Amino acid sequence: MRTIAVIVGSASRDSINRRLANALMLLGQDRFVFVDVRIDDFPLFNIDLSKEPPAPVLRMKAEIAGVDGVIFTTPEHNRSIPALLKNAIDWGSRPAGTSCWIGKPTAMLGASPGQTGTAAAQQHLRNILSPQQMIMMGQPELYLHWKAGLVDEAGQVTDETVKKRLELLLERFAVWVERVGVRSA
Ligand code: FNR
Repeated sequence: MRTIAVIVGSASRDSINRRLANALMLLGQDRFVFVDVRIDDFPLFNIDLSKEPPAPVLRMKAEIAGVDGVIFTTPEHNRSIPALLKNAIDWGSRPAGTSCWIGKPTAMLGASPGQTGTAAAQQHLRNILSPQQMIMMGQPELYLHWKAGLVDEAGQVTDETVKKRLELLLERFAVWVERVGVRSA
């Protein structure tokens, strides 16, 4: 089974994107081994620190090095991705020549209580990831308008349409990883 990192762009205890990511991992557990990659314990990026990156950053880079793909679940903050997520991407990209992102197949999704469902944030995320040379899946796009009860206490998606869209994302990403990914064995 292919191993996929999941990165959630929120540190909130009540994060809807955390709940979405957990639901996605539950739906995809027969298809992938997931690595839940923590990014909320990094300092703010500073080039001066990047020559000897802090331990949490080294942990993330090692985890990303070991996976066959990366799925980002992003909130939208002021029509972009949260600073937390940008910080992690910046840390992963440095020092120059040691980026952990290069060549990794990637997909994204996100949820917000707003009607546009993180569309603006995901557009920015695509711009950011493109020069990282991540191999980005274009479709399906998943801009989720979060409503109370969308994911129940057991972590199950209650809306059949949303569930099918998540399953389609997982199915297409499995194909994408095989098609464009670097084979690990
Ligand atoms: C938001 N929120 C928000 N929502 C949106 O759809 N578009 C936006 O531009 C913003 N901007 C924004 C800025 C800041 C600083 C905050 C704190 C929030 C609302 C946001 O979608 C909501 O708080 C989500 O619950 C955030 O996702 P998590 O952290 O719950 O996963």
